[in-house]
Amino acid sequence: MHATGMEGEGIKGIIEDARLEDLSHFESCIERIFQLGGSLPNDAQAFIKMSGCEFLQLPKNPTDIKAILEKCLKAEQGAIVNWDKVCKMTLGKDPATYDIAKDILMEEIEHESWFLELLYGRPSGHMRRKFSGERPHTQKHSRALG
Ligand SMILES: [Fe+2]
Ligand SMILES: [Fe+2]
Repeated sequence: MHATGMEGEGIKGIIEDARLEDLSHFESCIERIFQLGGSLPNDAQAFIKMSGCEFLQLPKNPTDIKAILEKCLKAEQGAIVNWDKVCKMTLGKDPATYDIAKDILMEEIEHESWFLELLYGRPSGHMRRKFSGERPHTQKHSRALG
């Protein structure tokens, strides 16, 4: 919503691709949480705290494109740290959870590389998704999203 103006229009699609895939990550892991006897915290603030990541909010100037991208990058990096932990925790022990975690991790690594490219010009080898929400790695875990 806040990627506005000529500069914003160019990055809107990439942010949308990343956000839709992050929605897929929620759906990809929720079933497994319940299968394992787990549940989601009732307190949203406590939930955010558990992640060890900053709550992703708009910057002070809500249309500051660079600040938005910096926040997006930080969020992807936080997700990488957490999904990497789940991969290490489950490798060789819980193949069902590992399969989900490594697919989510793959998309988070791609998202991080997109934002690194946009912010610092570091090539990501990034090809645009064929459509928003394509989620090449987690599609099979989040079928309700279509
Ligand atoms: Fe994600
Ligand atoms: Fe992501």
